[in-house]
Amino acid sequence: MGSLSDIYSKLPDSMDDLPAPPNAQAVVEADYRARHWMSPEQGPLRPGSDAHKRALAAMFRDTFNPYKPSVIDWPKLDPETLHKIVSLPIWDIAVQTEGKARLRMAAYASLVKDPDIKDAISRNAWEENRHKEVLSKMVAAYNIPMAPEPPYIEPRDVEWAYMVTGFSECVDSFFAFGMFELAKRSGFFPPELTDTFEPIMQEECRHILLFANWLAWYRAVMPWWRRPYFELKVWAVWAFLAYERLSLVRTVDDKGQEHTQDNNFTVTGTKEVTNVQITLPDFMELCLTEDARRFSGYDPRLLRPTTPPFIGRVIRDAGRCWEFASGIFKANKK
Ligand SMILES: [Fe+2]
Ligand SMILES: [Fe+2]
Repeated sequence: MGSLSDIYSKLPDSMDDLPAPPNAQAVVEADYRARHWMSPEQGPLRPGSDAHKRALAAMFRDTFNPYKPSVIDWPKLDPETLHKIVSLPIWDIAVQTEGKARLRMAAYASLVKDPDIKDAISRNAWEENRHKEVLSKMVAAYNIPMAPEPPYIEPRDVEWAYMVTGFSECVDSFFAFGMFELAKRSGFFPPELTDTFEPIMQEECRHILLFANWLAWYRAVMPWWRRPYFELKVWAVWAFLAYERLSLVRTVDDKGQEHTQDNNFTVTGTKEVTNVQITLPDFMELCLTEDARRFSGYDPRLLRPTTPPFIGRVIRDAGRCWEFASGIFKANKK
């Protein structure tokens, strides 16, 4: 795959080549626009209809933030905070995930015929690339030791790879929203860092909003005879993700040191990014609240991902039942 401009020529390849904001007010307004959007289309937005497809592409275009995430002068960290950040087991996987997402989305966008959908997905690829750029700059600023990046190979089954990335983002973002809020409350990261990563979180919300609506659109316009095979593929993607999440990824850096990367960090890492004590059901509640808050500014006629909040509610309710049952058990024992 060549440069992003092969498929999308309206944005420069690197975030460094975007125009600087004219003033501070423009930055505030762009941030607001990125979080609030209503379609001027009248009536319901039925997946498969032109109105839904147009709204989807317009949402993604209009909520693009040209100024954030921007690279900041990375704050100087005290040795303890620096050590905590450097030792989080996420940096390799975070950089590689963004790189892979960019490649897979760009590959899929290049195959899409519909100009609206192509525009939205190629912009999504561009934004993934910006995330990777921000992370790479942070890694360099804090001298975080990294395993060499594997070559990014264009997928053979482009649709499969796009769906793996899309569903994966839906799951990861849901839990990351809660974890990010927790990290913010605990002051684990200096505010300059949370300010840089906040717009990335919101962009991921836009990405999964796009993915959920792309999926509904794709299902609706697909010839009926392709549907059964496609639905099997969706199930296979979920099975693949479940398998992937049950394993830890090990990579070796250029000094021969082994790095263990945790695919489930957004769920299991709460203790590492915060000193706030939180039970699992309360953490799920927080994820659900944050998920709803981040989506609340977008046109309610656009579909939202439903499976991760469903999983979140199941874990929360099961956890609450367990707490209740063990509370009764303990009280009876006394
Ligand atoms: Fe991303
Ligand atoms: Fe994304």
